[in-house]
Amino acid sequence: MLRYAAISGTGMYVPDRIVTNEELSTFVDTSDEWIRSRTGIAERRIADSTETSVSMAVAAARTACERGGVDPSDLDLVIVATYTPDQHMPSVASLVQNELGALRAGAFDLNAACSGFVYALSVGSQFIRAGTAEKVLVVGADFVSRFLDFTDRSTCVLFGDGAGAAVLTASDEPAGLLAADLGSDGSAGQHLTLGGPERYVDLNGSNAVERAFMRMNGPEVYRFAVKVMGETATHAVHKAGLTFEDIDLFIPHQANLRIINAAAKRLELPREKVWVNVDRYGNTSNASVPICLVEAEADGVLSDGMNVVLVGFGGGLTWAAAVVRWTRGLLDD
Ligand SMILES: CC(C)(COP(=O)(O)OP(=O)(O)OC[C@H]1O[C@@H](n2cnc3c(N)ncnc32)[C@H](O)[C@@H]1OP(=O)(O)O)[C@@H](O)C(=O)NCCC(=O)NCCS
Repeated sequence: MLRYAAISGTGMYVPDRIVTNEELSTFVDTSDEWIRSRTGIAERRIADSTETSVSMAVAAARTACERGGVDPSDLDLVIVATYTPDQHMPSVASLVQNELGALRAGAFDLNAACSGFVYALSVGSQFIRAGTAEKVLVVGADFVSRFLDFTDRSTCVLFGDGAGAAVLTASDEPAGLLAADLGSDGSAGQHLTLGGPERYVDLNGSNAVERAFMRMNGPEVYRFAVKVMGETATHAVHKAGLTFEDIDLFIPHQANLRIINAAAKRLELPREKVWVNVDRYGNTSNASVPICLVEAEADGVLSDGMNVVLVGFGGGLTWAAAVVRWTRGLLDD
């Protein structure tokens, strides 16, 4: 019998600290008008010195486990999608596994930049569908503000910090991931980077000291994003054996309202089928899609039996789309 990986619980965490465009304009050469009109962003959350990618991931994961009725000690696997781990080793996932008390779970990080959560959802679902796991925790967490150069106004205004999580549970009914489309074009990787080591000593003993900052060719990434979002969403919907008529909600990576609107227009999706919260959080990278899932459900827009398309894109350059059948409330009973 076919097994499915139902999404049984979701959770999110964003830092308390809200940084509005006005506040940003006091130390960055920008304005509320420029940011709003070019990106749709009004404010973002910025983590403080007590917070880490791990702490945000743990907070989101705890909520997802509670809401999914899953005891962390029953998890078989923890996957954290992140490109801003607090350190290279141990992984964020291992530290999350420990903090949660997920004592039976394997754990690893996955880096596909802002496409990472959709990649991780696909990977975690495959473990369940193959019969090698029953319960999988998938988290997207990024502390991007640590890597922003606040003298680079074209990049630093776009991002915020946060985490989102989903618990996947084996099910015999069609639920969770129905199909996925993953892609990468490393030949264009230079357009979006978070560079090398902060301190490097080469074999001749000479030092190159450089802080790692996010660097971006905005217009190139913009063009790529609009094109790839429509293409990957279409591939995933076809792989699921569906058409866009069957899709109830479109949850795009929240990078820029203009990108979202352009992609939705290409797909001929009406505005009410497209979830948007980029105005309140900016681009939270791997947290963006799962935060949308939490908020869309809380808002009553996402309900049982719906087919949802999730789309990510980002550094790599990478892209990913997933078609998900939502059945969370059915599992609550
Ligand atoms: C970054 C982005 C908003 C820039 O918008 P844009 O309309 O393409 O703007 P441009 O880069 O052409 O810059 C236009 C002007 O605004 C200026 N500008 C850039 N950032 C600014 C800011 N924060 N405030 C004020 N002016 C700014 C530029 O210096 C430029 O000025 P110039 O014409 O005098 O040189 C847009 O390219 C974008 O969103 N790209 C995709 C980014 C993304 O999603 N990345 C993450 C992927 S996961």
